[in-house]
Amino acid sequence: MAIKIGNLEVNSVVYVPPMAGVTDLVFRSLIRRLDPNCLLATEMVSSRGLMNNPDCRIMKIADSDHPIGIQLFGHESDVMAAAAKMAQAAGADFIDINMGCPVPKITKGKDGCALMKEPELAREIVMAVKDSISIPVTVKFRLGWDENNKNAIEFGTMLQEAGANAVTVHGRTRAQLYSGKADWGFIANVKKNLSIPVFGNGDVFSLENALELIEKTNCDGVAIARGTMGNPWLAYRINQYLNHKQTIAEPSVVERLATAYDHAQLLVNYKGDRVGINESRRHVINYTKGLMHGSSYRGLLTQINNLNDLKEILTNLSYAIGGLIMQEEFLTAINQQFCLQ
Ligand SMILES: Cc1cc2nc3c(=O)[nH]c(=O)nc-3n(C[C@H](O)[C@H](O)[C@H](O)COP(=O)(O)O)c2cc1C
Repeated sequence: MAIKIGNLEVNSVVYVPPMAGVTDLVFRSLIRRLDPNCLLATEMVSSRGLMNNPDCRIMKIADSDHPIGIQLFGHESDVMAAAAKMAQAAGADFIDINMGCPVPKITKGKDGCALMKEPELAREIVMAVKDSISIPVTVKFRLGWDENNKNAIEFGTMLQEAGANAVTVHGRTRAQLYSGKADWGFIANVKKNLSIPVFGNGDVFSLENALELIEKTNCDGVAIARGTMGNPWLAYRINQYLNHKQTIAEPSVVERLATAYDHAQLLVNYKGDRVGINESRRHVINYTKGLMHGSSYRGLLTQINNLNDLKEILTNLSYAIGGLIMQEEFLTAINQQFCLQ
């Protein structure tokens, strides 16, 4: 089931959209080990920031890391256009424009979701970015600013007219942040009104959720953010099911724990000991969610200072879950580094 985003053909129904502090090169490589075709995006990049610091680490893309979008945020159309050119030169297959971020730090400067209140400015930005590059342009937005201003249908239509090649719609308003439930019914209405591909987004944490969102919204694809944290297998399992009617089993406990270790190890290799370990704390706890005894170990995992601490905690957890046999399996797995293979 291919999706055409402008001149980019994507063999993935799943899009793992931008998550600041999460979708870095390491996280993406874990998803790609299983699902090389998965549609992915970087963390968001400030277009204004890029003008002062063109050598932005977030935009680094590995050779195997395609198809990938670089997400930009900003509200100055000329700066966004210049940043888009730089992102294209950095290897992006498409540029995603952030018009959905609800965080006050971003919206107070007219960036992110604030652009939903300024559709004419949003149109200008899309047109300027389109004009500056030859790769497709996508936009990610929400249902609207708040309950009384849910303009996602008109906004999406305007973006399409301005030249956007696909959109991702998160089924919440800016005011909701992450509260309540994503409104898939509203996403269905946006989809009905557009002819470009639409990725439905919000509250997909499992294969079953993904199938339900696609059925209820008729969207071309599903964007899954939080559901992939600590679960790099999810995109692959959904794509295998939808493309090949193949049901892939959930990862085993050992696979999950070994991949948590691998994730941290890769982060340390890529970002160095201090930053790597700091950042890995937030990732490794996600791999233990839903595991027996997982909650008793999460506190310890947030305090690790090095890979040895992590290995010891995960070794103890594997023993708590499955005794000596599982502990042996875990230690063998991390020594072989088989993890996601
Ligand atoms: C930690 C985190 C960081 C995020 N960063 C971004 C971002 O940089 N750009 C963006 O458009 N959305 C960002 N989002 C929003 C997600 O892409 C997604 O729209 C939202 O989490 C809803 O999808 P989900 O229910 O699948 O998580 C972020 C979400 C989380 C949890």
